[in-house]
Amino acid sequence: MGEIRSVGVVGGGQMGSGIAQLAAVNGLQVWLHDSDSASLSKAMNNISSRIQTLITKGHLTKEKGSEALRNLRCTSSLEDFCCVDIVIEAIVESEEVKKKLFVQLDKIVKPSAIFASNTSSISITRLASATSRPSQVIGMHFMNPPPVMKLVEIIRGANTSEDTFNATKFLAERLGKKIICSKDFAGFIVNRILMPMINEAFHALYSGVATKEDIDDGMKLGTNHPMGPLELADHIGLDVCLSIIKVLHAGLGDTKYAPCPLLVHYVDAGRLGRKNGIGVYEYGGDKFKEIK
Ligand code: NAI
Repeated sequence: MGEIRSVGVVGGGQMGSGIAQLAAVNGLQVWLHDSDSASLSKAMNNISSRIQTLITKGHLTKEKGSEALRNLRCTSSLEDFCCVDIVIEAIVESEEVKKKLFVQLDKIVKPSAIFASNTSSISITRLASATSRPSQVIGMHFMNPPPVMKLVEIIRGANTSEDTFNATKFLAERLGKKIICSKDFAGFIVNRILMPMINEAFHALYSGVATKEDIDDGMKLGTNHPMGPLELADHIGLDVCLSIIKVLHAGLGDTKYAPCPLLVHYVDAGRLGRKNGIGVYEYGGDKFKEIK
C-alpha cells in the first residue's frame, strides 16, 4: 500500500465538503461526489467561498488557495473514483445506505484502495462485510467542521489490516490532525460520551426543567463547554444526532440510550438544525430567535 495521493469523497454535506476542502488544501487530488446535484453545487460553492475567506484573513496564500481549487473536482458519477487511493464516505448515517454505496464502490474503485467511513457510530466491521476488501476498510471519523477541528478518531474493524491503519493514520497526520483510536463499538469514543449528554439535554427541555438558553448556559458557563448541548445538537444536525442515538440504543442494548421523544418530534417536523435554518433554535441572519 503506497502513499495516499488522491481521495474520493462521497457526500457533499457539512462533513464531506469540509473533508474535500481539507484534502485539497493539503495537496491531495480530490474528487467530490454527491447523489444530489444541488448539494454538490452547494458544496463546491461553499468550499470556494471558505477558501476565499482563508485567503482574505491571511491564513492561506492566494497561490495555495488557487492550487487547492485546482486539486478539487466534482463529479456526478462514481465511475470517476476508479483510480483514487482512498475513498472517504460521508453520506447519510444509515448502515443500509452506506453498505449499498460500498457494494457499488467495490466494483469501481481499484483493488488496492482503502474505504474509509466518516460514520459517527455505525460498526466498521459490518460496513466492511459488504465489500470484498474488509482488511482495507476503516473508520476515519472527522469532527465538525473538518478543516477546523483538530481530531480524527480512527476505528479498526475486526479485519482492518495494520497497513490500512498506518496509511490512514499517516493521511490524518498529513491533514494536520491528532488521532485517537477506538475499538469498533457503537458510537466509538466521542459520540458514546457526547450523545447521551445531548439526549439528556433534550429530556431536560422536554420535561420542563429549564429553558433551552438556561440548559445551554448551564453547560457553557458551568462546565466550560464552548457550546451548550442543544446548540451543539443544532450544529451537528438533529437528524444526525437522532441516527447516532438510535445506533447507540440498538448497539449497546440499554434503555438509557433511547432517543428523547422531543428530539424525534423535531426531526419529524423537519427541524434539522443550523443546516436548514431551524432546529432547537431558529437561525436567521446572525441572531438566535426563540421558537414558541
Ligand atoms: P449532511 O446531511 O450534511 O450531508 C450528507 C450528504 O450525503 C448530502 O449532501 C446527501 O445528498 C449525500 N448523500 C446521501 N446519500 C448519498 C449517497 N448514497 N451517495 C452520495 N451522496 C449521498 O450530513 P453530514 O452532517 O455531513 O454527515 C455525513 C456523515 O458524517 C454521517 O455519517 C454523519 O454521522 C458523519 N458525521 C457527522 C458529523 C456532524 O457533526 N454532522 C460529525 C462527524 C461525522
